[in-house]
Amino acid sequence: MRIDIITVLPELLRSPFEASILKRAIDKGIVQVHLHNLRDYSTNKQKNVDDYQFGGGAGMVMMIEPIDACITKLKSEREYDEVIYMTPDGDTLNQKMANRMSLLENIIILCGHYKGVDQRVRDQFITKEISIGDFVLSGGELAAAVVADSIIRLIPGVLSNETSALTDSFQDNLLSPPIYTRPAEYKGWKVPDVLLSGNFAHIDKWREDMAMEHTKTRRPDLLE
Ligand code: ADE
Repeated sequence: MRIDIITVLPELLRSPFEASILKRAIDKGIVQVHLHNLRDYSTNKQKNVDDYQFGGGAGMVMMIEPIDACITKLKSEREYDEVIYMTPDGDTLNQKMANRMSLLENIIILCGHYKGVDQRVRDQFITKEISIGDFVLSGGELAAAVVADSIIRLIPGVLSNETSALTDSFQDNLLSPPIYTRPAEYKGWKVPDVLLSGNFAHIDKWREDMAMEHTKTRRPDLLE
């Protein structure tokens, strides 16, 4: 998979891909992440990428020209399955969306900044708008990193133990059961006996029951 991220702040997006699982996925050649500095596509001498709003109002708007130049260049080089815009008014990211996107070949992610992009960008180029929750970030960069992480870890071969993605919270609309490691007793606080029993049928049943109970109390909406 190839992910092209268009941003005015590429420095904000470097470190998430330089450690741990995402770095390994890149090193293994399973995913390529390319950062594009929108300023490199500015059409004026001052390297501006934003301008005042028509009609007045506070806040700058990302201009269409540099975004068009960048997206058009990328599209001339390969086909893209989605051109995603990160915005708080997009569809809220969930595991189902991450699963679907992990099957795609090439995606572009455009990070919003300032007040957002000129509406014509959304009308002409964007195929999907994603929010990571009902709150407003200073820009789309951290949200883009969240989306990329949620997708990349699902691509086969990225996680060393592939079952670990299958047992994630939300993967089957259930939250994960509690987990424990050594010591079996610490300051008198004990790990549930069943987990030490060696009876895997009982352990599986306990995990299913706990996942269901956990989901009912914390996120009953997932069961509706
Ligand atoms: N940009 C600013 N806030 C955002 C959010 N909640 N989700 C996606 N992109 C954003």
